[in-house]
Amino acid sequence: MLKVGVIGVGAISSSHVEGYLEVDEEIQIAALCDLYEDKAETINKKYELNASVYTDYDKMLENEELDLVSICTPPFTHSDIAIKAMEHRTHVLVEKPMASSLEECDRMLEAAEQYEVILSVIAQNRFKNPMMKLSKLLSDETIGSINHTQIDSHWWRGFNYYDLWWRGTWEKEGGGCTLNHAVHHIDIFQWLRGAPSEISAFMSNTAHTNAEVEDLSIAIFRHEDGGLSQVTSSAVHHGEEQKLIFQGDKAKLEVPFDVKAYTQLENGFLETDETLQQSITETYNQLEPLRYEGHTGQIHDVIQAVKGNKAPLVTGEEGRKTLEIIMAIYEAATEKKHVTLPLTKDSSFYSRESLLNHAPHFYEKQNSVDNFQNNEISVHGDYE
Ligand SMILES: NC(=O)c1ccc[n+]([C@@H]2O[C@H](COP(=O)([O-])OP(=O)(O)OC[C@H]3O[C@@H](n4cnc5c(N)ncnc54)[C@H](O)[C@@H]3O)[C@@H](O)[C@H]2O)c1
Repeated sequence: MLKVGVIGVGAISSSHVEGYLEVDEEIQIAALCDLYEDKAETINKKYELNASVYTDYDKMLENEELDLVSICTPPFTHSDIAIKAMEHRTHVLVEKPMASSLEECDRMLEAAEQYEVILSVIAQNRFKNPMMKLSKLLSDETIGSINHTQIDSHWWRGFNYYDLWWRGTWEKEGGGCTLNHAVHHIDIFQWLRGAPSEISAFMSNTAHTNAEVEDLSIAIFRHEDGGLSQVTSSAVHHGEEQKLIFQGDKAKLEVPFDVKAYTQLENGFLETDETLQQSITETYNQLEPLRYEGHTGQIHDVIQAVKGNKAPLVTGEEGRKTLEIIMAIYEAATEKKHVTLPLTKDSSFYSRESLLNHAPHFYEKQNSVDNFQNNEISVHGDYE
């Protein structure tokens, strides 16, 4: 029986609780912790967990001998809580983004190595059928070498979104939509395409005057193999049409699923390659679906790692790679320059302290609420 704890019992915590309850494993959610006791008690009752409730994660880690904790608190708290848990030799599954700076990520990675525990960062969209299928097709080089990647990380959030006390500030949220929304797509991008070598970017706040941070950014990447990529991160897109498009030598693959393949006529103009389109579509449709998707899929994966069966798919190193690209976008947009990867410790966006000194305040945060009455996460749709 694995003993699990959840720290931070707000909006996303239900996805963790439900994941632990859903997987076919011997799991006991033994402890819940939140600054607000009533929030933890509500979840305790709702899911009939009979867990011990804490308002101080130090005490929870002292009292309970937990095998694994889910950290579902705001970004600026992730590194301190994760390191404290790892000092207790407790494995960690931390919500995205891994932390609010690369320096904090490095401290987390050091702790995981020192205390020999698993550190995994939530990237639940990797555990969706279309992404896993895309990953299989790309790793089999079905579409040839990749020339261009287009990532449309389009989200929409209203003005009130940034009223929540920790959102909309560089200090507590760590960034805007590039960090907290596009992190999902940038993770998949770096997983499937690899890190770029050079980044250029613009960012702006077009509609959220209660936030210091950006609600729109556009970044262009150059890869060492000569390919180019573009990433739009947005919290202002009605419709939330999110896309990942990989253009290869032989074909284009897209999520939500689409495939197009051209071959050339004698004069170089295009002709549709029906055979290749059909064979890629058939392979895609025949790939085995996942047993568990989303948070539940990742929780199942992490449990296998805790049981010693394998490394988790999303390691701390993977979480850091994603954050490095995001920090490079911030540096490029802020300092109006091409940024080369890897980012060094001299980068103005490496440490939290330096980031706070350099990040632009598009607006100052005026309104702040401790909790929304309805904290439900509404989503437009899902990947097909
Ligand atoms: N994976 C996803 O799709 C997804 C979706 C939403 C949020 N998130 C991430 O999850 C994290 C939490 O976001 P949320 O929307 O659930 O926020 P939230 O504000 O609804 O919940 C956070 C909870 O943490 C508690 N908390 C804060 N500091 C604490 C501390 N020191 N000790 C104990 N509890 C503490 C708060 O009281 C609150 O209940 C963020 O990192 C966010 O980026 C991920």
